Amino acid sequence: MLGQKFPLTRLRRNRFDDATRRMVAEHKLSVDDLIWPIFIREGDGAPTEVSAMPGVFRVGLNGLAKHVEEAAKLNIPALALFPATPADLKNAEGTEALNPENLMCRAARFLKKEFPQMALVGDVALDPYTDHGHDGVIRDGYVVNDESVEILTKQALNQAAAGIDIIAPSDMMDGRIAMLREAMDGQGLIHTRIMSYAAKYASAFYGPFRDAIGSLGALKGDKKTYQMNPANTDEALREVAMDIAEGADMVMVKPGLPYLDIIRRVKDEFGVPVFAYQVSGEYAMIEAAARNGWLDHDKAMMEALLCFKRAGCSGILTYHAVQAARILEEE
Ligand code: PBG
Repeated sequence: MLGQKFPLTRLRRNRFDDATRRMVAEHKLSVDDLIWPIFIREGDGAPTEVSAMPGVFRVGLNGLAKHVEEAAKLNIPALALFPATPADLKNAEGTEALNPENLMCRAARFLKKEFPQMALVGDVALDPYTDHGHDGVIRDGYVVNDESVEILTKQALNQAAAGIDIIAPSDMMDGRIAMLREAMDGQGLIHTRIMSYAAKYASAFYGPFRDAIGSLGALKGDKKTYQMNPANTDEALREVAMDIAEGADMVMVKPGLPYLDIIRRVKDEFGVPVFAYQVSGEYAMIEAAARNGWLDHDKAMMEALLCFKRAGCSGILTYHAVQAARILEEE
């Protein structure tokens, strides 16, 4: 318009001071968004640090109460449990997964008793228990689907019986959610929730995790016949649609930051609670850069977590959960 001072609209006005920035913020991270994955080890030894995840430890049952205490105080709503199974308990069929006295079940019973207010998420896949490191059983060189699903269903029932509140199948077999839901309902476990790793990609970013649970050296080959190709998006929507139809209560996209586009599409398409798993390699990248003095640790950490909210997440599984919750409490 003639006579008008340029520019007409000043978007920077809403960024002028902190008060205004807070007023117009569209998304906010809260402690309610955080799920903390923890690694559990056998024996009463001291916690062992995961080599590519500085600050992340495998903790024995004797140290678990102390390890989780702060997370509970900070009001983090949920823990995701991952066992580092000793090599002598692993075999080709992953039978230790079905043992009611396995590390995971003992930890679940203990945590449920110590911290009853915290929800426990149980990862369902055979990789912590197989000597080949795959999530299912192998027949003629192929990770078979239907037979694996039957074993995984038993694994899930075993976890639910030990007090796991949220069953999280991460195996990427077809049809697992339906079989799981039916089996759990058959046992009266109608309140046990299912958070499916619905869109889980065959990713290089899981490297440090495999070291953490002791399947790194063990893994033969890759997981490309069951985990998704990072090139695909439409396929992720089909995976999610299938899991919801089969009875998933919540769905997950994994890894996190490189896959924000998938999170957004899933949220827009289905409107269900979507979770992101900010995986071990993402943690490692932030820690490595920060420890080299190349990134401001806390700022990078909080920004990454906020971006998951913006992308449409209801929550994030993150190894930074406790550190982030501390900062949120201070604010
Ligand atoms: C097991 C499982 C994996 C992760 C979570 N559950 C590894 C894999 O699929 O090989 C990775 C988590 C992380 O990297 O932090 N199926």
